[in-house]
Amino acid sequence: MVQVEKYKVTDQYPNMKDYDAAYESHDWAEIEKQFSWYETGKFNMAYECIDYNVEKGLGNKQALIFKNNDVIERYTFKEMQDKTNQAANVLKDNANIEKGDRIFIFMPRSPELYFALLGSLKLGAIVGPLFEAFMEKAVKDRLENSGARVLVTTPELLTRVPVDELPSLEKIVVIGDDVSADDKIVDFRKGMNDASTAFDIVWLDKEDGLILHYTSGSTGVPKGVLHAQYAMIQQYYSGKVVLDLKEDDVYWCTADPGWVTGTSYGIFAPWLNGVTNVVVGGRFSPESWYGALEDLKVTVWYSAPTAFRMLMGAGDEVVNQYDLSHVRHVLSVGEPLNPEVVKWGMDVYNRRIHDTWWMTETGAHCIVNFPGMEIRGGSMGKPLPGVEAAIVDDQGNELPENRMGNLALKRGWPAMMRKIWKNDAKYDSYFINDWYVSGDSAYKDEDGYYWFQGRVDDVIMTAGERVGPFEIESKLVEHEAIQEAGVIGKPDPIRGEIVKAFITLKKEYKPSDELKEDIRLFVKNGLAAHAAPREIEFKDKLPKTRSGKIMRRVLKAWELNLPEGDLSALDDD
Ligand code: WTA
Repeated sequence: MVQVEKYKVTDQYPNMKDYDAAYESHDWAEIEKQFSWYETGKFNMAYECIDYNVEKGLGNKQALIFKNNDVIERYTFKEMQDKTNQAANVLKDNANIEKGDRIFIFMPRSPELYFALLGSLKLGAIVGPLFEAFMEKAVKDRLENSGARVLVTTPELLTRVPVDELPSLEKIVVIGDDVSADDKIVDFRKGMNDASTAFDIVWLDKEDGLILHYTSGSTGVPKGVLHAQYAMIQQYYSGKVVLDLKEDDVYWCTADPGWVTGTSYGIFAPWLNGVTNVVVGGRFSPESWYGALEDLKVTVWYSAPTAFRMLMGAGDEVVNQYDLSHVRHVLSVGEPLNPEVVKWGMDVYNRRIHDTWWMTETGAHCIVNFPGMEIRGGSMGKPLPGVEAAIVDDQGNELPENRMGNLALKRGWPAMMRKIWKNDAKYDSYFINDWYVSGDSAYKDEDGYYWFQGRVDDVIMTAGERVGPFEIESKLVEHEAIQEAGVIGKPDPIRGEIVKAFITLKKEYKPSDELKEDIRLFVKNGLAAHAAPREIEFKDKLPKTRSGKIMRRVLKAWELNLPEGDLSALDDD
């Protein structure tokens, strides 16, 4: 196994300087004291995120800053309280929502999305956010499986909703100008104008439903992952010790709420911590993102490797045009963070990018690089206090240090999913005894740092050697010509599998056989002979999920002429 270079950095916000002590002394019962329900026994995520902050005297503080190109809208916590109450009233007046009913939200990022989402939570509904890019089949599958009673959408996206084929769908709340309402369609903006800003929140219990995220990710059929209200305790705590959120921070999580990162860390964690939360609409471009960081004076920035790689590919000339000196903490999630990207980040942002590992199913951070902790480049870091992790074999036995196996978590961390919607068998299949088995392979080193190797399904067996695609991809992106790389095992009669790499080049490079050879040698000399790709194919772009993960399953299907399977997660624009 190849060890990636280690380096030490001293961060300026030392939350976790003494990690072992923090881990040993951790007690969720202590963290519970930070919530209003500790006194009242009454739960509601939206209340904790918005109203409770108003009660604590933060009413005039900026809660939401929304930027879409040159348009910037700002809302204080008090304004958010009014808007979310109004949204709750619009929903309540038009649909007979009961606790636990599903309200789905299918729209582009805008302040109204956040009003509607939190308003739904105030009614006691379970919310289901959908990516705006979903097409008809993806929308139908999710609304059908969840039995959604209400959908909040826009006139443009409504054309992709097969309303007649969804018998459970009673009302469609349309957010647009000139909406023609009827007994099924509700005009949201008109409703908001007329609605009262007072609303009696529906109180829930700790185990009541919160949010339903459909995840297909890079594998298989979409499944509805249900989280409970109690997840908030881990989202709050990780917001404090991992995102390092402090009173004066301006925080930007770049993820869309269609992905768990865009809710756990794009809505809940920042607002549970009473912090100003930035949402940027529109499409990605290096200029618009750096512009948002500069204009809004963002201090804490949470994004994903795919975005960092695109920013890196855009060149240092671009980043150097912006003043990013106020950005004090940068984090990443969704895919392994290539050490090359971390090094680049150190140069251009003068900050280390902190990797965080977790999943839709885990609901919140589980293994992370804490600010202040000694960081090892290429490692996901150490478990969040209150979360127990291990590497186990296929029978659930713990493996010794430095052995690759299944990355597993001990059942019972607070933000753990509570069910897979209408699929108990699938839910049960995640567990071996008390271990939740993540489907990722990893190893733990002698100092307790976890090192990601790949999805278990992606591991390549070549000539008897087990190699994770990630370390090859990371080596590849160190090559000066390469922007991104996806690596798969291609069946081979002699070697079992051979390593095949799909590569996109930086704009100034052209494909050639010499370049292929140079790349092969680069991996051979820099990593290992058996890891060097025997086949290389240049591509204009790689297939990725909407959350930016390279879909190796699709690369494999291309290679083997197999059906590509469910592609609703594919980002194809
Ligand atoms: C992968 C994302 C390496 C992993 C919140 C996991 C990562 C899956 C990392 C979950 C990381 C996420 N390093 N791999 N820091 N973070 N992954 O459900 O394979 O979209 O199992 O949730 O992404 O993806 P999901």
